[in-house]
Amino acid sequence: VNELNSFAKHAKEENVSVESEDIKNGNGVKEDSLMSLSPKKIGTYTGRESNDVEKWYGIRESKNKIQIRNFEDVIYTIVTSPNVFTPTNHVLANFCKGRKLVILVSETIDNLYGKKIREYFIRQFPLDAFFIQRIKTGEKQKNLRNIETICLTAKKFKLDRKGLLIAVGGGVLNDMVGFAASIYKRGIQYIHINTTLVGQIDVAVGIKTAVNFNGTKNFLGSFYPPMAALNDPTFLYTLPIREIRCGLAEILKMAIICDRKLFELLEQYGEVGLGQHFAEDTVTREIIHRAIIRMVEELYPNLYESNLERLVDFGHTFSPRIEVKSKYKIRHGEAVAIDMAISCRVACLLGYLTTEEYERIVRLYMKIGLPFFNEQTCDAKDLWDSLIEIYLHRGMKLNFIVPLTIGAADFIKEKEDIGFSVLQQAVSDLRNLFKEYRMIKFGGN
Ligand SMILES: NC(=O)c1ccc[n+]([C@@H]2O[C@H](COP(=O)([O-])OP(=O)(O)OC[C@H]3O[C@@H](n4cnc5c(N)ncnc54)[C@H](O)[C@@H]3O)[C@@H](O)[C@H]2O)c1
Ligand SMILES: [Zn+2]
Repeated sequence: VNELNSFAKHAKEENVSVESEDIKNGNGVKEDSLMSLSPKKIGTYTGRESNDVEKWYGIRESKNKIQIRNFEDVIYTIVTSPNVFTPTNHVLANFCKGRKLVILVSETIDNLYGKKIREYFIRQFPLDAFFIQRIKTGEKQKNLRNIETICLTAKKFKLDRKGLLIAVGGGVLNDMVGFAASIYKRGIQYIHINTTLVGQIDVAVGIKTAVNFNGTKNFLGSFYPPMAALNDPTFLYTLPIREIRCGLAEILKMAIICDRKLFELLEQYGEVGLGQHFAEDTVTREIIHRAIIRMVEELYPNLYESNLERLVDFGHTFSPRIEVKSKYKIRHGEAVAIDMAISCRVACLLGYLTTEEYERIVRLYMKIGLPFFNEQTCDAKDLWDSLIEIYLHRGMKLNFIVPLTIGAADFIKEKEDIGFSVLQQAVSDLRNLFKEYRMIKFGGN
């Protein structure tokens, strides 16, 4: 199978057509194992290949059934490259050679960096090879209308199937451009340039694209890998500190679920990192790199989320509802921080996490200024309802993530194993902690 796979890949590179008969004959497929086909996307290198999947590629044929499994690899690159739009930086240009380009730039980024971005493309490419379009962003703009705008821009520019979409902006824009790329002429390639910390450590790492739909966050979307994600840390200098904290929340997520050392780095350097907007080439870049690697490790065996037990969903159980309920006044990262605090308190009340470690986590929250409670959106009954929603979303399993210690976590499978009263208690404890904290910090204002 491996030989066939490499032959086929080679053939694909050389643009040689591979006849199905060749594959069939070469592969010697077995009829009787038809039923063992797993719905998992096969041909994706998972690194942690599961033993239950029999690997084969090609066509299996019986009287009433034809099965097709191709050998598409998922390959994408995450590059850290400071000053990506400096004329002497060729990283982006090297990915784009010989293609037509449509560059989608968020309004904020256009206002701040538009001149530099235009100069870059003018210098690197013929004028008729690229088109730059400003796109309105914000969660309310993350909708199908904007997808149409992107597709229409590309169509007017006559972007062909070899063309590239390039997104320059935050997670909202990158999610939308990825989605547009996945449907434009049934799919063309795209490049992420994430200009926020959340974008660089989270959006850039996975293959998910989305828009909000009918009041639900990220309801429509696709799994569609980019060609590359370019992380330019210098963009972070202009990112408001509140947005930096949102990224920090996602980094803290990785620390709590799987990397104690990362947690310690945050304890030691989190505040300094905030002061430098996580943009400097100091230990803060090590923190970012480490968070990305941990995220990649968690995501890549399960890029298409066929396995619904995902540790990276920590902080993403209550948070969608918190975001929506606040009408997006609470940012994604802030909602994740609040969700993680509730989850940690639940873990503590259920005896998974020691009080000592819970308090250590809370101390770090306070040190780096992450929110752990919000009166308007944290209603126990409402949060319980979101557990039910998530239960349906995760294939009739709750898969609620609880930290066991700092750096390791596990899943609670059923709602009953948490119980409404425990959730209620957790919310009440955090409300009290928040009141106390406000008294100490702001004298009750
Ligand atoms: N696809 C995924 O795997 C994935 C992962 C995490 C989050 N997301 C999605 O990403 C979104 C959140 O991303 P986000 O936090 O980047 O939000 P965002 O795109 O809304 O950007 C945050 C704010 O920062 C501004 N901004 C962006 N870059 C800037 C810069 N360099 N300087 C100054 N201002 C700048 C934006 O205009 C915006 O006001 C959510 O919609 C979330 O669902 C997707
Ligand atoms: Zn997130």
